[in-house]
Amino acid sequence: MADLGLLRDAAVGINSESGLIEYVGPASAVSAKQLHPDCEVFDARGRVVMPGFVDCHTHLVFGGDRADEFYKRAAGVSYAEIASQGGGIRKTMEATRAASSKELFESAWQRYLRLLENGTTAVECKSGYGLNIDSERLSMQVIRDLSRKAPGVFMRTYMGAHLIPPDFAERRIEYVEQVAGELAYFHGKDLCDFYDIFVDPLAFSQQEAQVIVDRGRELGMKLRLHADEFGDDGTAAWGVANGAVSADHLGGIGDEGIKALAGSETIATLLPGTMFFSGHGEYAPARRMIDSGCAVALATDLNPGSSLMYSLPLVMTLAVLEMKMTAAECLNAVTINAAHALCLADRIGSIEVGKQADILILDCETPEEIAYQVGTNLVSDVIVNGDLIKRHGVMLF
Ligand code: NIG
Ligand code: FE
Repeated sequence: MADLGLLRDAAVGINSESGLIEYVGPASAVSAKQLHPDCEVFDARGRVVMPGFVDCHTHLVFGGDRADEFYKRAAGVSYAEIASQGGGIRKTMEATRAASSKELFESAWQRYLRLLENGTTAVECKSGYGLNIDSERLSMQVIRDLSRKAPGVFMRTYMGAHLIPPDFAERRIEYVEQVAGELAYFHGKDLCDFYDIFVDPLAFSQQEAQVIVDRGRELGMKLRLHADEFGDDGTAAWGVANGAVSADHLGGIGDEGIKALAGSETIATLLPGTMFFSGHGEYAPARRMIDSGCAVALATDLNPGSSLMYSLPLVMTLAVLEMKMTAAECLNAVTINAAHALCLADRIGSIEVGKQADILILDCETPEEIAYQVGTNLVSDVIVNGDLIKRHGVMLF
């Protein structure tokens, strides 16, 4: 994670037909006569060229907003109190159920464009605010439509196991069975790439999650987790034992969890924007995790309640200030490690020959400036799959 593989005076060659990277190396090794006669040359002298940001944890699709809660917290009401007063995920559930497919699509599309503008070229998106069969199916259809329209990689995650909806409070296992049953539906219709479970005293117990995971395993589906967010529930280690591709949040992770992650292929995805925005929970012990050998990714957790945040550079700033990560660690965490968290590291996440040309040009001279220039969008140019999406600060898409 400490090695950026930084090249100076370099050039990148893109084949705009295949959308793939064909060359990366010294600029001096490229002569004018090697270039295709129609090729376009971008002069990025004095600026940073890097792989597109990969946001491997978002909840982009939801109805309504929770701005009121944002200000209530500022006035001293906690995230947990707000949830117990009928706010929180339940409030978004009601607004999501009330929204039409078109409304859900349009609002999520605007959010997606905002991500692109900030240089995020690959996105993971979860359902989980419908929390009944019809509404979750609708959310997953919206996510499918987004994935078809998006120019970049758009990975789809079914998260019916975000919370037990109120009408199932007294018959939890029925809801668990329902979610487990829906896995076959989404998998069979090719509507998801992953499924995710919020394992937490306020959401699903490990025992309940196991019912869902056993079904997922039978179907050969890939598991992601919201794990050990507010305390050490042993969920990170349980996730490793169950082959989770990513264990996310981890604010409460303990030594056993860190050890399990370090010895595994599971990526530890940290979401400092959530603590910053919600004031709830602890920042994950990133330093201890990285020093112990965990592969750490960073993501926004974009959602209406605990992190309405679009900028991975801002997440990097928080990772530096609150979790003591280095510039190189942050950059790897929002590119190649996030690509690993999506099982896509052979395709995206770095500038290498044969990979998809998802490339940014930034208005700064060094990679260290990206987190340092707080809250600023330095991304002037965005190339996705070889296509120009943003040029000189203007969106073309
Ligand atoms: O990832 N931790 C659980 N779920 C969301 C919170 C969503 C919300 O408050 O709407 C999260 O932070
Ligand atoms: Fe989340």
